[in-house]
Amino acid sequence: MIIGAPPAPEDRDRGGPGTPLLDVRGLTKHFGGKGGLFGKAKSGVVRAVDGIDFSVAKGETLGIVGESGCGKSTTARLVMQIIRPDAGDILFDGEAVGSQALSLGDFRRQAQMVFQDSYASLNPRLTVEETVAFGPRVQGAKPAAALAKAHDLLHRVGLEPRRFAGRYPHEISGGQRQRVNIARALSLDPRLLILDEAVSALDKSVEAQVLNLLLDLKRDFGLTYMFITHDLNVVRFMSDRIMVMYLGKVAEFGPSEPIFEKPGHPYTAALLSSMPSMDPDHRTQEAPLTGDPPNPIDPPSGCRFHPRCKMVSTLCSQAEPRLSTMGEDHLAACHLADPQSGHPRLAAA
Ligand SMILES: Nc1ncnc2c1ncn2[C@@H]1O[C@H](COP(=O)(O)OP(=O)(O)OP(=O)(O)O)[C@@H](O)[C@H]1O
Ligand SMILES: [Mg+2]
Repeated sequence: MIIGAPPAPEDRDRGGPGTPLLDVRGLTKHFGGKGGLFGKAKSGVVRAVDGIDFSVAKGETLGIVGESGCGKSTTARLVMQIIRPDAGDILFDGEAVGSQALSLGDFRRQAQMVFQDSYASLNPRLTVEETVAFGPRVQGAKPAAALAKAHDLLHRVGLEPRRFAGRYPHEISGGQRQRVNIARALSLDPRLLILDEAVSALDKSVEAQVLNLLLDLKRDFGLTYMFITHDLNVVRFMSDRIMVMYLGKVAEFGPSEPIFEKPGHPYTAALLSSMPSMDPDHRTQEAPLTGDPPNPIDPPSGCRFHPRCKMVSTLCSQAEPRLSTMGEDHLAACHLADPQSGHPRLAAA
């Protein structure tokens, strides 16, 4: 046996390849507002995640995009069980997380997260090898085996153990620290990696190297990714499917190509047209996203995007759009995607 080799993915595929690795239904988290003091009215409930459904297939990368505050990190923390949902079900390979079939501990070993701040994520008093060996040690590996695994993983993430194993976080660069965080995340042989803005703080050239590393690791270790980022170019490069969030809701969900080529939600279209383009023919002078920035404390009625939407009609402020099918596996929560909605622009088309 090669030290540090993870179990073959197929050995752990309990539900079979057709079962999503992650299946999330009705996930909801509201912050604050637990009744005002001295019987005052409830105030300021932040609807950070407001009843979302999505799935992540085995071996795919699901990109999650949306403006700041739309609920991306909260979704990640709920899936990771760092915070408890108010409502919703999370199935991992067909089994409810926290059930008898899949205890929280079992789940936590199989799902790991990498955060944006490479330095804050690391214990400054542990060397690189101690950091990566820590998880296996806690899980009961012998010191020598845990260290061997750490060295193997450091090698896999491009940090030669001979040079890096004994260094402390402050002695290495941001990109190298993020490689350590990735090695640590892999140290318990997870199946799911949630990357929350994991490359966003890196210089562009370092970012590209880490993204390529992540693609290699995904292939070599049979991983599944949830990839959260502000950067639409990065999400396009990384993702098989994309979830676009707006004020705690799913605005659009589908395979990467159709979402970029033919977005079904005006919000997605506005996000895409605000992307810096290398192509001078596609540069836009117009500010695509106008109006107030989203406020999850008091979300607009009906479609939450309606106050900023170019296609708005009275219907949009009255009725919440359902997720309608745009194409295979492609859904958009817009009245224009629903032929039955009665949006006046449908009749005009
Ligand atoms: N612990 C908390 N208590 C109160 N409100 C919170 C808490 N965590 C997040 N929020 C609020 O929930 C909303 C969603 O936050 P979240 O961090 O999930 O957004 P995000 O999409 O990750 O944003 P960003 O792109 O800036 O990282 C925001 O309005 C945020 O202020
Ligand atoms: Mg965030």
